[in-house]
Amino acid sequence: MKKDWKLPSLKDAQIRTTKQSLVERELFDIPSHIKNMGNGRKFFLRTYGCQANERDSETIAGILYQLGFSSVKKPEDADIIFFNTCAVRKNAEDKVIGEIGHLKVLKRTNPDLMFAVCGCMAQEEDIVNLLLKKHHHIDLIFGTHNIHRLPNLLYNAMISKERTVEVYSKEGEVIENLPAKRFGKHKAWVNIMYGCDKFCTYCIVPYTRGKERSRSALDILDEVAQLKKEGFKEVSLLGQNVNSYGKDLNCDYNFANLLEDVAKIGIDRVRFTTSHPWDFTDEMIDVVAKYDNIMKYIHLPVQSGSSEILKIMGRRYSSEDYYTLYDKIIAKMPGCAFSSDIIVGFPNETDEQFNETLNMVEHCKFDNVYSFIYSPRIGTPAAKMVDNVPFEVKQKRLQILQDKINHYSNLNNQKYVGEKVMVLVDGKSKKNDQVYSGYTQANKLVNFTGDNINDGDIIEVIITEHKSWTLNGEKI
Ligand code: 5AD
Ligand code: SF4
Repeated sequence: MKKDWKLPSLKDAQIRTTKQSLVERELFDIPSHIKNMGNGRKFFLRTYGCQANERDSETIAGILYQLGFSSVKKPEDADIIFFNTCAVRKNAEDKVIGEIGHLKVLKRTNPDLMFAVCGCMAQEEDIVNLLLKKHHHIDLIFGTHNIHRLPNLLYNAMISKERTVEVYSKEGEVIENLPAKRFGKHKAWVNIMYGCDKFCTYCIVPYTRGKERSRSALDILDEVAQLKKEGFKEVSLLGQNVNSYGKDLNCDYNFANLLEDVAKIGIDRVRFTTSHPWDFTDEMIDVVAKYDNIMKYIHLPVQSGSSEILKIMGRRYSSEDYYTLYDKIIAKMPGCAFSSDIIVGFPNETDEQFNETLNMVEHCKFDNVYSFIYSPRIGTPAAKMVDNVPFEVKQKRLQILQDKINHYSNLNNQKYVGEKVMVLVDGKSKKNDQVYSGYTQANKLVNFTGDNINDGDIIEVIITEHKSWTLNGEKI
């Protein structure tokens, strides 16, 4: 271990203070000796996991472009390969480790090729130790809290040729002067807050992304107004828990207020993710219902339909609370679409408790559910629980659950046949250049045909056919 390395510490990552985060407007800086270091150099960036990572990758790309790098589509054409990683489940990590090993062969034809690992896995003590011990071709490791340090770290790794590791375990302040290369032309992610303080017992995110820090409303509203001016049609407000927005700012301004102010800017489509069922307020429901440009689609992770399991998960709501919230939203917005996240095979989950999850799916008839087998994460409370559920049982449960999810997704899609929907055009389909694709207000992917269609248009499409996960249609 080198003396100047900064390695992650799980213990430090658990610490929460009540100190309000500062806003840093000048922290990001490219020292003059580093400017242009990327001229003539190419990067390849692969992103795993959630939208927070997607948005971080836009920042990383923005910094690299400012340094003079250009991007390439194939790893073999790069001078440096970045892996922006996800730690939420072991299989996500295994995929990254596999890929890191697999791409090592590129060093044979290009011995100067460099590898950088960042994102949530870089925040994990055991993973960084493994990478340092077993993957000697990795030149740079940095975390989620020090992306702004990338110019200096890259200089160290690339020009000074020193293996560089810098991971802060404690989150920093809210940094406002970072560049971004937006990957979309019409749809943009807008961070409204960082981190998570919920500490659900199975989840690694509060350790990898630090405490909840809200951006100032003015900064968010300015960003949305600017995006509208640049021609963006849709913004998705991002946070691990958007409902918590503003709680750390010690003022009365909450997520419902922010959502309303964003909607008033008049951008065509506003989405938000993720909301926690525990503190989803009536005020939020009213705001979503009131504004036509807030999409009637809510991602509301339930995780389990059993109150006993929810309690052990530390979710702060019972299944009855979830039913009540769901019914309240549907009563106010009958056409509202819902998606959810569900974990099966949490330690000691019984058949009966699993059946309660199936009942929940039957009641809510989700449009989409991201379903997972519970994956123990080192350092989380659930990882220490004794688990009496054999893995084969968990796999069986996942299959049963997914069959039910598919059934309702199919039924929901069937209802659209013959209906007219508004679609934001993403572009031509990858498989067939006669076909376009885009998303409806309810976040359904539609493949459609028609004339005079441009990317970024919002057009009316009649649905002619449905599949389990997509719709087909024609421009009207
Ligand atoms: N095991 C399985 N799924 C998990 N998730 C989070 N942590 C774990 C874990 N340890 C799921 C939750 C969360 C989604 C992003 O990932 O369902 O909502
Ligand atoms: Fe993880 Fe729970 Fe925070 Fe979501 S709310 S990121 S599941 S700890």
